[in-house]
Amino acid sequence: MDPSPDPIEDKDLKLEYKPGEMIGDHFTVIGKLGQGGFGAVYKATTPEPECKTIAVKVGTFKDDDLDFATNEFDRMYQLKSDSPNGVPSEYCLDVEPQIIIDLVPGRPINFFSFGMEFIEGQDLFNFTVKTLQHLPDTEKQEAIQHLMLEIAKNLQYFTDNSVAHFDIKPENIMITPDLKVKIVDYGLMREPDHATGKGTLLFMSPEILEGQVDEKGFCRI
Ligand SMILES: Nc1ncnc2c1ncn2[C@@H]1O[C@H](COP(=O)(O)OP(=O)(O)O)[C@@H](O)[C@H]1O
Ligand SMILES: [Mg+2]
Repeated sequence: MDPSPDPIEDKDLKLEYKPGEMIGDHFTVIGKLGQGGFGAVYKATTPEPECKTIAVKVGTFKDDDLDFATNEFDRMYQLKSDSPNGVPSEYCLDVEPQIIIDLVPGRPINFFSFGMEFIEGQDLFNFTVKTLQHLPDTEKQEAIQHLMLEIAKNLQYFTDNSVAHFDIKPENIMITPDLKVKIVDYGLMREPDHATGKGTLLFMSPEILEGQVDEKGFCRI
């Protein structure tokens, strides 16, 4: 079951964009938000008259790996569709309706891009370094307790929807100015018993590294 609309082609897709440039025919870049192992994320706007501020992820993939390229978009689309009335829950990201695919068979690098909800704030890594560690002890403790609970609620939401994220780490956890938490980067999200074995080495659980995971995502040994 693939809930996404047919991918549309765009021959001008690339990975690096400057402010004012267009990603595909639709999104105008405001600036870069971040870069991870799979691509770059830009702050951008949708076309007039809407001019909504969104985040656009641009990534590369091998021509025999289209499923891998579309997985993040498909997961977002599915979680949004499964939410009551198609309104995304506070724990999943809203996604724009189409993914752009630039795929030329035989070419070493191909590109995808899609738009999603822009999250104001910073990721947990930057939040810890720039904000959290400068708070007085009592406030710091309260903030940590609050954030732990919010992160747990986000993870519970994934579990309730029969998926596991498989790349939980500070860079993939966004903290808003009012200390709400939203997890990003659904690239490795799968059903719990379909782990890809990929992830971020320092944050991977031993059972994933050893491939010992049961259908609920728990360790078998
Ligand atoms: N929807 C978003 N809103 C705001 N910032 C985002 C959003 N998605 C990602 N980012 C920022 O961009 C960075 C890279 O995005 P991510 O999806 O994790 O890419 P990768 O798959 O390459 O790791 C994140 O660490 C975060 O700082
Ligand atoms: Mg990431």
